[in-house]
Amino acid sequence: MFIMRTNKAEVVIRKYKEGDLDPVIELYREIFAEEPWNEKWSYEAAKSEIKDFLKQENIVFLIAQCDNEIIGFRIAFDMKPENFPFLKGLVKDKEAMYGKELAVKKDYRNLGIGTNMVLQSFEIARELGYKKFLGRTYLKSKMVPVYSRLGYINTGITDPNYPDRVYFIRYI
Ligand SMILES: CC(C)(COP(=O)(O)OP(=O)(O)OC[C@H]1O[C@@H](n2cnc3c(N)ncnc32)[C@H](O)[C@@H]1OP(=O)(O)O)[C@@H](O)C(=O)NCCC(=O)NCCS
Repeated sequence: MFIMRTNKAEVVIRKYKEGDLDPVIELYREIFAEEPWNEKWSYEAAKSEIKDFLKQENIVFLIAQCDNEIIGFRIAFDMKPENFPFLKGLVKDKEAMYGKELAVKKDYRNLGIGTNMVLQSFEIARELGYKKFLGRTYLKSKMVPVYSRLGYINTGITDPNYPDRVYFIRYI
């Protein structure tokens, strides 16, 4: 557990626990309905997506909480090389974590919460023996400046299934 004091509030960053599922689903639906994602997740579809994440190997699932409200989350897990052939050898077995999701509720952005969750996820992944993080995003996402400040490098490789999303890599 890590306590962050921002200008606005005291925020706890901690590991996900079972009772967090519903508030995380609601936050997921709310945040990914925004630009540039414009995704319309039903409650059931978001639940199934998050439950799938929970089954992944070595999941690092962090929650940002302010008072009793969940205001952000970070989800990362082991990246299987066979699922990413287009990354041309950048991913080797048990070496890379996939930073699948990072989200902070609108009212709490630009306070360093997203950055802190990413840094905490690096720590946990290092302890698990991982050497790098990869992540995929739209070039117009707010994630791009966050990635560059955190030392991620744009690989220039796009996802064949999502040609407008680019992979970034960070050695940890
Ligand atoms: C991307 C996202 C997670 C960033 O979360 P955040 O908590 O606002 O991120 P941070 O506060 O750490 O960084 C954002 C800005 O705050 C600034 N900031 C203010 N105080 C800060 C502090 N104490 N420490 C670090 N950064 C701080 C940073 O300089 C940064 O500015 P920059 O991005 O223009 O360089 C958030 O915008 C979000 O949820 N977006 C929608 C979902 C999304 O796009 N997720 C990514 C999917 S790939």
